[in-house]
Parts: sequence; structure tokens; C-alpha cells
Amino acid sequence: MILEKEKNWWQDAAVYQIYPKSFYDSNGDGYGDIEGIRQKLPYIKNLGVDVIWVCPFFKSPQADNGYDISDYFSVDERFGTMEDLRRLIDDCHAMGLKFVLDLVANHTSDEHPWFKKALSGDEKYMNYYYFKDPVDGHEPSNWASVFGGSAWEYVPRLDKYYLHLFHKKQPDLNWENKEVVDRVINIMQHWAQYGVDGFRLDAINYLYKEPDFPDVEPMPGSKYGFANQHYANKPKVNEHFARLNREVFAPYNMMTVAEVAYIEPETAREYCGKHQPELDMLYIFDLLNFDQDGFDKFSPLPFDVKAFKQTIFHWQKEMSEIGRLALFFSNHDQARSVSRFGDDSDQYRDLSAKMQGNAMYMLKGTPYIYQGEELGMTNLNYEKIEDFCDVEVMNTWQEKVIEGGEPAEKWLALFNSRSRDCGRSPMQWTDEANAGFTAGTPWQKVNSNYPKINAAAQEKDEKSTLNFYRKLLRIRKGLKSVQQGSVTPFDMESENTFCYSREYEGETVISVNNFKNVTCRVKLPRGSFRVLLSNYGDVAKVRGTVTLRPFECLTAIKE
Ligand code: GLC
Repeated sequence: MILEKEKNWWQDAAVYQIYPKSFYDSNGDGYGDIEGIRQKLPYIKNLGVDVIWVCPFFKSPQADNGYDISDYFSVDERFGTMEDLRRLIDDCHAMGLKFVLDLVANHTSDEHPWFKKALSGDEKYMNYYYFKDPVDGHEPSNWASVFGGSAWEYVPRLDKYYLHLFHKKQPDLNWENKEVVDRVINIMQHWAQYGVDGFRLDAINYLYKEPDFPDVEPMPGSKYGFANQHYANKPKVNEHFARLNREVFAPYNMMTVAEVAYIEPETAREYCGKHQPELDMLYIFDLLNFDQDGFDKFSPLPFDVKAFKQTIFHWQKEMSEIGRLALFFSNHDQARSVSRFGDDSDQYRDLSAKMQGNAMYMLKGTPYIYQGEELGMTNLNYEKIEDFCDVEVMNTWQEKVIEGGEPAEKWLALFNSRSRDCGRSPMQWTDEANAGFTAGTPWQKVNSNYPKINAAAQEKDEKSTLNFYRKLLRIRKGLKSVQQGSVTPFDMESENTFCYSREYEGETVISVNNFKNVTCRVKLPRGSFRVLLSNYGDVAKVRGTVTLRPFECLTAIKE
């Protein structure tokens, strides 16, 4: 029996996202590991978060850095042992931290036993995936993979193609096959019983594909096209979510956060329980898409603060009654936010990193802080294509530079500003070799700015980005208006600022943020406000019209 007060335990929580490969290497093999996370739990706890979400650490060929799982029941030896995991989860619980597992249920690795059996021609297992006959000697349709190229891979031995929305080593599971659903539920129940407190559900709104796989409009310069209208958020996924809720999430009182691209508010509210219990909160990637052409991260657009605030406030409004949003500025699939939306020069890095935190995490929803964001870690410069690791980079390089003949410099620059590798460089712990991340050779290049930007130095500096984040999370937790209150934007016409007030039972808090390297003026709501947090640190009270310096931010409470 779950007590009423224990239900929705996650409601006021803040989450820290860990990319294990790059977090902390405890044994000197160059890869971050589970024991490394355990050793850093005091650091995480001290930040003021309540939950850790750890990206996949299961057995995997690592074609997509662990999102290609070949065994859902065991830890990959790169990351440690089952005993390490037991200790990590037990220590989390002993310290009052919850543990969220990243569950990849849309696809497995092609090295998973199910897929291996399918490849050997075993019909039962072929039916676990989507195998289709060639059409006129070609792919069954022109669907593009998220990582570039076709979403279909040919298996000569079977004379059939299989579907992979992501990497060709990530074949999509057929959720129309009831046995598949039973087996995934079995995996989830296993981990629930093991003691994990929640799931981050990877690409979970892609579970249902329209069975005829119709051709789509090709992308410019390509044979293939994004077919998301045929596989994202199809009504049938609600049935799956409701069943997972009944059989796993509810009985084990778990927190669920679903990665959902291409979503509209009405669907979002349905997922969050408008008609039946399904998911707790949504991680909407579209929130980071406003400085690029649609879903194409390598077609960047200038950062438009107005577009940003319209998107954010639109979602805040749409989800104000039903549903909950994950609040985030970066993750393992994105460039570092201070480089992308701020200014990572020596002069403004610290100010703009703090301002971004203040802007995002006083909103309504659940903060998700991605490792290193609390230090203001930046993008790094990879000099040559060999320095990059990510499949998305490799596929795009092949398509655009090798086959398409486009200039290498153009693509290196784009990868250095937008690729997933930007956000995956090792965590900067100290000013020692390799930023104190490993005693060995790091799997991925360490950012050369680590002597300046590292946790140990920021620990000692009361005014550091790290200490600002700690304070921010503490303030957030103590204010009912920020946890639960209404959200009212102001200064909407400005092209520089991002401002809103939060209100709950007579408590009013404002968050005022200047996203640009300019001075600007903002008219505040009526009343006098006591400053609780600011990045310049020299303002105690504000009222009326205030002048904001470059990247200045503050949170203040009405007196
Ligand atoms: C999600 C993950 C990403 C992964 C993809 C395929 O988008 O965040 O890292 O590559 O799913 O599993």
C-alpha cells in the first residue's frame, strides 16, 4: 500500500543527469564508471538535487554509446560490475537520493540475442522486429534514419530489410507483437524490484509505427525523408503507456520521464494523465529547437530570444493544469548551453552560465541539470574528424563531405558548435591531468580549459557558478510559488530579456534575465522586490524600471 504522502514523491525534486562514460573514472581505464558515480555522490548531493538519472550502462557494443543494448539485465564491463551497481543504488538511497534508470524500449542492439535469432531466420524472433520484403529491389520505403541515411538495412541472407529509426545497429522492436511488450514489461519489473525509483523512457513516443510505412517527402538533396508523422505520437502508444503504468509504474510508485519529440500540447496532456494514468512528466526536445531549422541541428539559426520565450511560455501555459515539464538547457544530445545560447568568453562565461540557470530553473516543472552545466562547462574544439566519436557526426560526415563533396572546414565548424560530442567531453573535476577525470587515457578529449573551469576551484570560490547553482536549487526548494505557482511572463516584446513572475497564495517571485551582451531596461511588476539571487551580486532590492547589465539575472521576492 503506497501512502498518500509518498505518492508523487518526485513532485518537488530536481534531477542531475549523468553521462557515465564521461563522469568519473575510478579505475584508470579511461571510461567513467559506476563506482566513479558512487564516489562522487557527496558532490551530487551537495548540489541540492534529489534524483540522479544515469544514461545507459547495460551491456552494449556502444554503437550509440550504450543506447544500443545487448543485455538489459547486466552492467557493461566498461562501466563496472553488478556489485558496483548494487552499491551505487544502496548508497543513493542511504543518502536520500533517488535513482532513475534510462530505459531503451524502442529498439535493442543488433547484438541482442533476440535480434541474432531473428537474423538466423527464426520467424518468432523476426516478428520481434520489423522485417519487410524489398520493393522493386529497394528499401520498403524512403524513411530516413535519425542519424542520416536510410532507416532500412538490407539482410542479404534473408532477402529482407529491417527497420532502424536510429543507427543500423539499433533495430526497432515491434510493439504490435504482444510477446515483445510482455518481455519489455518483464525487464522493467525486474529493475523496479531491484530498487530503481524511476525510468527515463528513451524515444518512447515512437513505439507504434504505421504498418504500411508509406513513402514521405524527401529532404532537400536526399532520397530520404523524415517520416515522424507516421511513427511519432500515434494514438496507439497511449495504450502501451497505460499498460506500463498499470503493471510497473504505479505498483512500484515510480517516477517516469518520457523523451518525446514532435509533440503537441494536447497529446502531451494525454500522456500526463488527462484520460488515464500514463506518464509523470515529459522531456520535450522541441524546446531546444528554436535556433535551428526544424529538427536539423546542423542548420543553425541565430539565437532568437523572442522565439525562445514564446516557445517556453507557450508550453508553460499549455501544461499549467495537466502535466509536468522537464526543464533543461542541455543534455548528452546537445551542445553545451553556455556556448550555444550564452557567451563562453572569459568575460561573460560565468555570468551567462548563471543567468541560464536562473532563467530556466525558476519555471514550473522539474529541473534537469546535465553534468558540468553547474560549472559552466563549454564546447571544446575538436581539430580533426578523428577526434569526434558520435555516430551522428560520422554518418553526416560520410554523407556531406565524403559523398557530397562539401567543404570539410564547414562541417568541422558545425560539429564543433552543434554536435552531440560537444556535450560529452569528460567532466572537469580538478586542474590536474585530464581534469582529474581519469588516471589513464580518456576515451574522449578533455576540454583544454579545465585548469580554469573545474569543480575543485569552484568549490573554494563562494561566487562560482557551482555555488550559484547550489543556492538556486536551495531557493527553489524553499518557495511554494516556484514549486507550484502560476507563471506570468512580462517584458515579452524585448529581444533580450526573459522575465516572468511566479505566484502562489500571496507569495510572488520574479525571475529577470538578460540573455544578451547589451544593457537594457525592464519594467517590473508593481511592488518592491527583495533580491534572493543575482549573478552580479551587488543588488539588494529592485522596483519600477531596472537597468540590466550584459547577461545580468536576478530572482527576487515581493516584500
Ligand atoms: C535518445 C537518446 C540518444 C540516443 C537515441 C537512440 O534520443 O537521448 O542519445 O541516441 O535516443 O536511443
